[in-house]
Amino acid sequence: MSRVSLAEGIYWVGAIDWNLRDFHGYHTSRGTTYNSYLIVDEKVALVDTVKAPFFPEMLGNIKEIIDPGKIDYIITNHVEIDHSGSLPLMVKESGRAKVVSTQKGKEGLKKYYAADWPSLVVKTGDKIDLGKRSLEFIEAPMLHWPDSMFTYIRQEELLLPNDGFGQHLATTGRFDDETEVAMEEAAKYYANILMPFSSLITRMLNKIKDMDLKIKMIAPSHGVIWRSEPGRIIEAYTKWAAGETEKKILIIYDTMWESTDIMARAILKGVMDAGGEAKIFHLRRNEWSDILKEVLDAEAVLVGSPTLHNGLFPPVAGFLTYLKSLKPKGKIGAAFGSYGWSGGAVKKINEELKTAGMEVIETDLSFQYRPDKEELNRCYEFGKEVAIKVKMK
Ligand code: FEO
Repeated sequence: MSRVSLAEGIYWVGAIDWNLRDFHGYHTSRGTTYNSYLIVDEKVALVDTVKAPFFPEMLGNIKEIIDPGKIDYIITNHVEIDHSGSLPLMVKESGRAKVVSTQKGKEGLKKYYAADWPSLVVKTGDKIDLGKRSLEFIEAPMLHWPDSMFTYIRQEELLLPNDGFGQHLATTGRFDDETEVAMEEAAKYYANILMPFSSLITRMLNKIKDMDLKIKMIAPSHGVIWRSEPGRIIEAYTKWAAGETEKKILIIYDTMWESTDIMARAILKGVMDAGGEAKIFHLRRNEWSDILKEVLDAEAVLVGSPTLHNGLFPPVAGFLTYLKSLKPKGKIGAAFGSYGWSGGAVKKINEELKTAGMEVIETDLSFQYRPDKEELNRCYEFGKEVAIKVKMK
């Protein structure tokens, strides 16, 4: 593999996971990368490692540049095993490197690997001098684990924020100007991994401004490196963290015998006839992580379910559990559904949407067996009503 250089003496030495399609439930349709960075100065530092099966790939990349025995520090920005999985082998290979982490990171590594490595615990503002360059650390608790931290190289204006600003994206190019889909995948990543921590992200973005960190390049631990316009991804994070929305309505549903499906389509027609923008998702025909990417900037989320055994249809129940956990901000929610002999789904959806923090429009769109003409007209009119409400917001 030819060397990938970010600046003089700073290299990408990670691994590309082209065939990954499931990252703990997140559908990674374009694979991912595990990015490690090698900084060769008077002292040598490796920032993050890779998922365990990719250790030989990372080691091969390092060996093309330097003898691994020369590594002085292994910076562990985050304990999660897609980044620390190779750490036991890397520590052994390097022979003398110190593992640098936050206190929570040290505790996490001990629990995962039961190892007693030479270590150095750092806090915000601490620095390690490498020679011409130094590494500065910024603790980033709950972005997205308690142990998380960012590493910054002031002399290069380079931020290494681990999962922050990442994308699950495998490409031949390592930089954002070598792909068309970096921002799309960054939005999906934000929605599925970082959205619950939006208020902390706003705080971190303000902290970066207060610390007057100049940023020429952002090198996350997944996907491509933001070198063309790092300001563009910071701007996008600012917008997503604030919960800014587009005038977009999502109709998300599942169906047993097509009655809820027919209702969903009548609502969609109402939205379209009122000039609104909508997208419709059947929960067993779409990946939930793709739907969440759409939820990120949607103004309204309408959820439909048949009633099964007095409750929700299981795919809808599962989706709502996932949606709630991601705490989407500032959205209108509403429910619709069908039933056989007793309703219940609509009431349960409303409860879940309220728990998710949505402003719920209470509806009476719960119809027995097959919705008739009058009932479908009520769905249609509701679609129009939501479209007008979203336009006026
Ligand atoms: Fe990429 Fe939180 O691990």
